[in-house]
Amino acid sequence: MTNQQGAPGAPEAACFHLDCLWQPSEGDPAGRFVFELRNTGAVPVEGFRLVFTTLRFVERDPSADNVHLLDRRGYYHEVAPPEGFRLVPGSAWRFSLGGITGEPQHRGEGIVSAYLTEADGVRRAVFVGDLRRETSGERSVSGAMAAQPFALIPWPAEVEMVPSDLLPGYLVPAEGATADELSAVSAVTALFRRLFPIEPAPFSLTALPDDRLLRFASDASLDREGYRLDFRATDILITAADAAGRQYALTALGQLLRAARAGGGFRFPADGHIADRPRFAWRGCHLDTARRFFPVGDIARFLDCLAYLRINVFHWHLTDDEAWRLEIRGYPELTSVGSVRGPDAALPPQLGDGAQPSSGFYSHADVRALVCRASQLNIEIVPEIDIPGHSTAALAALPALADRNEPAGAYASVQGFANNALNPAIDLTWTMLEAVFDDLAALFPSPYLHVGGDEVAHGAWQSSPLAARLMADLGIDSAEALQSHFMRRVQAMLAERGRKLAGWNEVGNGEGVETEGTLLTVWQKAAIGAGLAQRGYDIVMAPAEAYYLDIAHSSGWDEIGMSWAGATSLESTYAYEVGNDIPAELLPRLKGIQACLWTELVDSRVHFNHLVFPRLTAVAEAGWTPAANKNWERFSALTRFCPSL
Ligand code: ACM
Repeated sequence: MTNQQGAPGAPEAACFHLDCLWQPSEGDPAGRFVFELRNTGAVPVEGFRLVFTTLRFVERDPSADNVHLLDRRGYYHEVAPPEGFRLVPGSAWRFSLGGITGEPQHRGEGIVSAYLTEADGVRRAVFVGDLRRETSGERSVSGAMAAQPFALIPWPAEVEMVPSDLLPGYLVPAEGATADELSAVSAVTALFRRLFPIEPAPFSLTALPDDRLLRFASDASLDREGYRLDFRATDILITAADAAGRQYALTALGQLLRAARAGGGFRFPADGHIADRPRFAWRGCHLDTARRFFPVGDIARFLDCLAYLRINVFHWHLTDDEAWRLEIRGYPELTSVGSVRGPDAALPPQLGDGAQPSSGFYSHADVRALVCRASQLNIEIVPEIDIPGHSTAALAALPALADRNEPAGAYASVQGFANNALNPAIDLTWTMLEAVFDDLAALFPSPYLHVGGDEVAHGAWQSSPLAARLMADLGIDSAEALQSHFMRRVQAMLAERGRKLAGWNEVGNGEGVETEGTLLTVWQKAAIGAGLAQRGYDIVMAPAEAYYLDIAHSSGWDEIGMSWAGATSLESTYAYEVGNDIPAELLPRLKGIQACLWTELVDSRVHFNHLVFPRLTAVAEAGWTPAANKNWERFSALTRFCPSL
């Protein structure tokens, strides 16, 4: 049993950036390609070869400049720089080729893909910029200007800008940018390319006359993740205190240019500034990958959507009654059995399944690739293993986790799963959890590991003779008290691994756990948040009635989505103000807000996009934008620029 084969993974981040310019050439009717391969990594390279593919292939090359054409088969080309050439970080190898088969007519007829082979044979990813050609300066934009001509989501803390009637070509780092700055620009260019593959990219590393230059500065006095953009006569100054702030500054510039290019009343700034900083440190989005399996490529793309919206926490729900999706060393059954549903499998078909078995889990290699992609996007992945309830899949995979003398159907969860809680009176529960937490700690750098704790059935453990003995030993008599004992032991295990406990708000029920370092995600009633904060817990607010993306947009019969928390329109999600639920003196405990997507009814990508977008942009804005700057008119006119899966 392997995880889904052939699913596109999260590709390696590129350390090289290839720009290509088409130029007319005397005596060569099809013109020439002028290339710049820039080293945006930290290490010099020498003795390398570059492979690229292009529809407009090079048939003959009498005038190759600063390059050897080594091989060409169909669209495949392999080239090398002159002997002894060394490409140091930040610098570029410029070369050109003529003899191309016809003048390109469209942006997409340039270099389509590339990679670099180092002298030792190791192949490196190369990001390929848009094919460009010189035009006669900035184009003027026509048409009536929108009331708010700047398309920024989420809206910044401070915006004072004058719209321009001119549209710059691309945004390009000025001479002297460091390899690190070039790499940041290349990474955000790649983000836009992945999200909007058929649109021109906002950035290039090679300047043409109609481009706008970018300069970089750092200022340690700016807030974490904050940035400043100064639009000046000849360039744009980007100031940030950290890499995240610089990424967000570039993302904001990309958003401005995207919308200005789209027309419809939007403009690029001529003058002025943006001074920006996040309202909350935790701007999260949760995704339930237990009920539905999402291939790694889909998760990678969702991370891109989050980064575009400056959401910086991905709460990854990996296990539930319906499936266990994370490979655990030493317990292969958790995934070989626990991730498979089907008519003849240990787990029956669930919502969306037919007679064909469904399966899928994340290997350690998958997780490492996604954690790496997330960290490049300033996103922290907080993994969730939902225990002690919601554990049907684990119990099906490892039947020895159950008390054999607990009667079948002794209790059921609200979702109808019988006897679905891990039993704290069974040793295997703890040896398995040791292995689970070892793997979580090895895979995820987040200081928090989320251990669920929601919806343990009231009758849980009451009919288990082993649990009864444990409760008698502990002098307790309720499921709530035993859950508190369970979670305190879990908290100690996490602390041994240097990690803090995050859980759903029920973790605070009864005695709860140690408040120090604990973070609770409040999903039930918003009022629960204030009570938990009062008791000393850090909280993240994800009230279902506002921020659960699986809840239907309206109460209409034809609407898709869940109804147990009412209906949440885009406008009502936007209108929810967390500050109204948490008294001012408790605000230091409010770490932020979060959207959640449970996937019972997410039967396709169409369902996903319908439920998530644009409501997620409303949560993103609530997490980033000062409450005083929220404005429904402005916000709702900009949602057409939001990304999708
Ligand atoms: C939850 O919605 N059960 C956290």
